[in-house]
Amino acid sequence: MSKGSFYITTPIYYPSDKLHIGHTYCTVATDSLARYKRLSGYDVMFLTGTDEHGQKIEKKAQEAGVTPKEFVDRIVEGQGGILDLWKLMNISNDRFIRTTDDYHVKSIQRIFRKMYDNGDIYKGKYVGKYCTPCESFWTESQLIDGKCPDCGRPVEDAEEEAYFFKLSKYAKPVQELLETGTFLEPASRVNEMINNFIKPGLEDLCVSRTSFTWGIPVDFDPGHVVYVWVDALSNYITALGYLNDKYDDFDNFWPVAHHIVGKEIVRFHSIIWPAMLMSLGLPVPQKVYGHGWLVIDGGKMSKSKGNVVDPYVLAERFGVDALRFFLLRTFPFGSDGNFSNELLINTINTDLANNLGNLVSRTTAMTEKYFGGTLPEDREESEADSELIEMINSVRGRYEKQMDAFQIHLGIDEVFKLLQRANKYIDETTPWILARDESNKARLATVLYNLLEAIRVSLILLTPVIPDSCAKALDQIGADADCRTWESAGKFGALPLNVSVRKGETLFPRLDTEKEIAELEKLQHKKSVPASEPVLPDVTIDEFARCDMRTVKVLSCEAVPKSEKLLKFSLDDGSGTPRQILSGIHKFYEPESLVGKTLVAILNLPTRKMMGYDSNGMLISAVKEEDGKEQLHLLILDDTVPAGMRLC
Ligand code: MSP
Repeated sequence: MSKGSFYITTPIYYPSDKLHIGHTYCTVATDSLARYKRLSGYDVMFLTGTDEHGQKIEKKAQEAGVTPKEFVDRIVEGQGGILDLWKLMNISNDRFIRTTDDYHVKSIQRIFRKMYDNGDIYKGKYVGKYCTPCESFWTESQLIDGKCPDCGRPVEDAEEEAYFFKLSKYAKPVQELLETGTFLEPASRVNEMINNFIKPGLEDLCVSRTSFTWGIPVDFDPGHVVYVWVDALSNYITALGYLNDKYDDFDNFWPVAHHIVGKEIVRFHSIIWPAMLMSLGLPVPQKVYGHGWLVIDGGKMSKSKGNVVDPYVLAERFGVDALRFFLLRTFPFGSDGNFSNELLINTINTDLANNLGNLVSRTTAMTEKYFGGTLPEDREESEADSELIEMINSVRGRYEKQMDAFQIHLGIDEVFKLLQRANKYIDETTPWILARDESNKARLATVLYNLLEAIRVSLILLTPVIPDSCAKALDQIGADADCRTWESAGKFGALPLNVSVRKGETLFPRLDTEKEIAELEKLQHKKSVPASEPVLPDVTIDEFARCDMRTVKVLSCEAVPKSEKLLKFSLDDGSGTPRQILSGIHKFYEPESLVGKTLVAILNLPTRKMMGYDSNGMLISAVKEEDGKEQLHLLILDDTVPAGMRLC
């Protein structure tokens, strides 16, 4: 019987770049909590997704020469994209929302209108600062050294007609919410919110933009698009069916919502989000948990620093479970954690290869060696067993307490205390000595049975963290379905007395630390060199053939007046009539250096106006961003190639 409903969410990720180990950390942690709740008998809804609107995405798409939707599709659905990463990492989400999904778009328009109709949204003029990478508005007083207080990057002046949400009206109820109960955890984040944001005075929030278009239009004023955070935060309710017909889970799951978010977005989740919900007349979530960041050498991971850790590299080399385990075992969930390759390898060796893997392989090997794989039913108990058995009986309660408080690392630690105790029990009981004398058979069987039980209970409790490895190991120790349940993890003795084991493959081979570190450094460097964008979703050969790409010769090329970037080309495309194309590559080429060159252009794109000139196609170039700098190389062919040849 279900213990009740439980709704848990990750933030929805920006598909502006490939995700890194920090994003993976957040999703894997939430996954382990969702799995734990399912295992322990709850009816769970686990939601993740992507946050696809906003100026940052619009800019990136423009740079890539594709539409924003094409751009996000590639990062979400393309090979090596977000969906692939979650599949690889064995993420058990029940639902995946994209903020470009139709039903979400419609719900957002209704949500916006509802807050407008109840008088909480009004029209005004926005004058302030905007941080494009963070998609955040700031007032002058919130800036640190004139820069974005979240990411430290420069902000831009912003002034435009805009709608505002009466956030100030909700300052008091939000403060009360933060101060009472356990809405926001860890507790340290509560003071941060109150002192940094509420006490200085909550200003009304600008909730629409007119200076770009990649967003959800306000349906009663379509020149405005809804502020991306209003769009994004609402995903938690639209994905349950709030103000749409797509789903019907709102009544069941909304009152039991738990948001797991990184520390820098706690502000949005614990101040703006409850205020929005209060405005909509909805209950607030049960909990917002702000976890720490994975950092490198104490600093943030970033593409421009070139220190982004790719989860694919680690998962391919060490296995998904080893990576999941490392992330959850090593770093206290509420605090920052310093990632290093050495720590990863040491954790795999100490905990997985030694404490867990070795215990499983020794115990199954001894059961095979001394009893042909099946224990006899005779037993001989001893006082020496009582501590281990007591731990087996009580570990689930201690683990549950930690997991319910989202202290995943401490939950895992409880299991490892049991595993360490079991390893010590082998040294104390010396089964290899017992095995020398036939009269000790019952005692030896008891010792091995107790060890198998310690392993069994540990594996059940580790299942939310390393699901596949636990399933394999439970097979090895002969645990059938009844011996894998949450109920059976609460009590010693579920395995049959005459249990049969099947020694299998080594679960976690021991790693040579120095060699692995050297290899990893090479790999991480190598992997960071090729363009890190995921490969696009497949196109058919017919779709590809619809792109008319041809060789073109540059007849003339000049800079466009008043434009820093644009060059205007007149090109021989083989048709006899010169073709005009504009290209934003002045930063990379002087116009005169290109005259006479043979290039490649796609000809059948719709005509675009750029600085008043028509551009009839696009020149093909290779583009890459490295260390925050963009590199671009036009595709220049050998001069012997004539103009007007099709590329196929
Ligand atoms: N789109 C917003 C969230 C909207 S939720 C309604 C966003 N997206 S994000 O892709 O930038 O970040 C998603 C999550 O990844 C955040 O919780 C963020 O804290 C987390 N992480 C990003 N880098 C991280 C680390 N280095 N370490 C741990 N978590 C990190 O914010």
